[in-house]
Amino acid sequence: MRKARKKEHVENYLRTSFKGDTLLGDVYLPHNALPELNFDDINTSLVFLNKKINYPVLINAMTGGSDFSEGINRDLSTIAREFNIPMAVGSETIVLEDKEAENSFRVVRDIIGDEGIVIGNIGGLSSSEDAKLAVDILKADALQIHLNVAQELVMDEGDRDFKGVLKNIESIVKSVEVPIIVKEVGFGISYDVAKKLYDVGVRHIDVSGFGGTNFIEIENLRNPSMDFTELYSWGIPTAASIIQVRKLPDDLRIIASGGIRTSMDIIKSIVLGADVAGISGEILSYLVHGGISNAMEYMENTIYKLKVIMMLLGKKELQELREVDYKVTGKLKEII
Ligand SMILES: Cc1cc2nc3c(=O)[nH]c(=O)nc-3n(C[C@H](O)[C@H](O)[C@H](O)COP(=O)(O)O)c2cc1C
Repeated sequence: MRKARKKEHVENYLRTSFKGDTLLGDVYLPHNALPELNFDDINTSLVFLNKKINYPVLINAMTGGSDFSEGINRDLSTIAREFNIPMAVGSETIVLEDKEAENSFRVVRDIIGDEGIVIGNIGGLSSSEDAKLAVDILKADALQIHLNVAQELVMDEGDRDFKGVLKNIESIVKSVEVPIIVKEVGFGISYDVAKKLYDVGVRHIDVSGFGGTNFIEIENLRNPSMDFTELYSWGIPTAASIIQVRKLPDDLRIIASGGIRTSMDIIKSIVLGADVAGISGEILSYLVHGGISNAMEYMENTIYKLKVIMMLLGKKELQELREVDYKVTGKLKEII
């Protein structure tokens, strides 16, 4: 059941047509005509999850569990290794039902090697034992816990009881040795939710906001019994979510995801307070439509333009991006 569903998610993602808005377009960055920098000196590397990575980009959770998923994970992890960026796998809950599914996840660590960053993934109600298993399978550097209430509610067979998730996350934070990243799947994290997570010890939040992959639409395409079209615009736009979550103390690391497609999206996310930006749907599209070389070329262009934009802002190091005097306009200004 889970295996078939994972394949349908990829297929249905490619069929979706609703266009959401991250509102990153409402962030204005000022041009610097006198950067006084040499392009070659611009530094896009950083330390994330205790390892050095070359770019503030991660390939975010998508798949695993079947031969079909293994092929995708192979390609994505090859890209992650090539650029020395982290990669998160899709939900590992499949492995709890079917041991054979492990290989489709392990392949990611095998390809990336011990030097790179691999991130595991489980649900908010998974037990601490399952969380440890999810880490062990990958020798994971961190573990994502996904919050996907909107997705589950639109699934005919989805969960309906979300009581006890926060307490469970607290237990996992206390019992698992690697950092826990709590993430949404495309509907965003509000300040209040982030504060609750922070207060139980979570120090990494992936906002995964509205404006990219839309799991209400993906699940609606699989649900013959009720139509949820009216909810397609549900969610906190990614830009608004980053700004809200950034109000928490600086020791909270933020991953910006949800509709991150371009270098400009990545830079704006960092200016707003994220440490790295996660990409799922966009790289999957490049991969499915043109193979690994197409996805590699997309990544190559994206990271080149990160440097271009840093130069245009007069910033040599990523941490200097936090000092950019940005302005918030339009709908984003109204929301925040
Ligand atoms: C095909 C597909 C499968 C996904 N599966 C998972 C998953 O298993 N676990 C998870 O936490 N997020 C999953 N996601 C959500 C992404 O990690 C991400 O939060 C979301 O897609 C928003 O980012 P995007 O707009 O760049 O796609 C999936 C996304 C896609 C496109």
